[in-house]
Parts: sequence; C-alpha cells; structure tokens
Amino acid sequence: MQPAFPITGEPESEAAERGRKLFAGQSEFLKGVVAMDGLPPADRIEVCFAGRSNVGKSTLINALTGRKGLARASNTPGRTQEINFFTQGDRLYLVDLPGYGYANAPLKVVEKWQRLLRAYLAGRATLRRAFVLVDARHGIKPPDQEIMGLLDKAAVTFQVVMTKTDKMKGPALDKVLDSVRMDLARHPAAYPEIVITSSEKGIGIETLRAVIAGIE
Ligand code: GTP
Ligand code: MG
Repeated sequence: MQPAFPITGEPESEAAERGRKLFAGQSEFLKGVVAMDGLPPADRIEVCFAGRSNVGKSTLINALTGRKGLARASNTPGRTQEINFFTQGDRLYLVDLPGYGYANAPLKVVEKWQRLLRAYLAGRATLRRAFVLVDARHGIKPPDQEIMGLLDKAAVTFQVVMTKTDKMKGPALDKVLDSVRMDLARHPAAYPEIVITSSEKGIGIETLRAVIAGIE
C-alpha cells in the first residue's frame, strides 16, 4: 500500500520541461518587507518558503533559481529578517520568510518578525502554497506544528519539503519521514505529498521546480 503522504516522484518529461522553462526565466530580488503595508501589489501568484531558522530556506531559493547569491544564506541562524520577495519570470513571486523558532535575537525584534510572518501567512490572498521546510535530521518540531496550525486555520495549502537529506539517508531518513507523516495526518491544509531535497547535492530541485510550475 502507498503510504499516506508519499514522496513526490520525479516529474514526467512535460512537467519537468514546464519547471525548467519557468526557472529559466529571470529571477530578481524585488524587495524586503517589514510590515504588511509594504507588500508588493498582489498581481500574480506566489509561493513562500517557511521553516525554522537555518533549515535552508534561502539556500533552496538559490538552488531553484540557479543563482547562488540571490537570497542571503548563512550559517548564522536568523539571517533572513524580512519577508523577501523575488520575481520569477513575470507571473510568479518566490517569497523567502524569516525563520521561526530562533530565540537568540532581541525579544522585541523576534516578536516583530513573528507577528509579520503570521499576518503574511494568514492574510495574503495570492499565496497559493506555503512550502514548510523540515530538516531531515530533526523532523517536525513544536514551532512547525504551530505554523501548520495557523495555515490550517487560514486554509493555506502547505507542502512539506525535507531539506539537507545529504546528511540523513536510508532507514534513518525513513524513520523521520514516518513521524512527519503521522504529524501531517492531523493537518487538513497539508498537501498530500512530501518533497525530498538537498540543495547541496541538487537533489529534488528539478522536482520542486516542476511542482511550482504546476501551481495555478
Ligand atoms: P534563516 O534565514 O536564518 O531562517 O535560515 P535559512 O532557513 O534561510 O537557512 P540558510 O539557507 O541560510 O541555510 C542555513 C545553513 O544550512 C547554511 O550554512 C547552508 O549552507 C546550510 N544548508 C542549506 N541547505 C543545505 C543542504 O541541502 N545540505 C547541507 N548539508 N547544508 C545545507
Ligand atoms: Mg534565510
């Protein structure tokens, strides 16, 4: 029997081609947003990348777009402190979010981005899917559950993307995946497939491009 929440398979050639074409288009940094009234006009669809600090959101955007320095990635958790909008071609925004679950910045600052993050996730009409990144070594943690709960309430479909799978393979990864699946079963807004990636090794990047290109 197929497990619930199977891993998204390699795209068929047509879907792969759509993904390739979409990401062959220009990717540009548009703006960093610090308040809801700074959001760009909601004139096209967007997908966002959410997840705990250091999970690999910015690195994944760089891998998808093929532009190493596009989103600022760093070893220092809490690097991304604004909602960063990137254009992908002329019909899609990619949105890099500040990480959550990181307590080592001044409390006032953390509270401010967390409020913004929540307002954005719950209130952006053109947000078609939130990718919730989960570190393959750690699985789903309480702050992920909280964000997933918020997305359930806001009826924003979210899809789990496992990151850093170069660091976790075979049975150890399967075990983490099993527990991720158990958690996802409790979330009505969870998309029924999981994407496995390693930005470092280029695993799953073509698949995720095709997934994004398939979102209307
Ligand atoms: P914040 O902006 O702080 O929330 O972090 P982030 O989620 O954007 O993480 P970022 O992309 O900055 O990556 C954090 C660290 O993880 C960096 O040192 C990356 O090089 C590393 N990293 C990201 N993806 C991978 C991966 O697939 N494999 C490995 N081994 N390391 C990765
Ligand atoms: Mg980042």
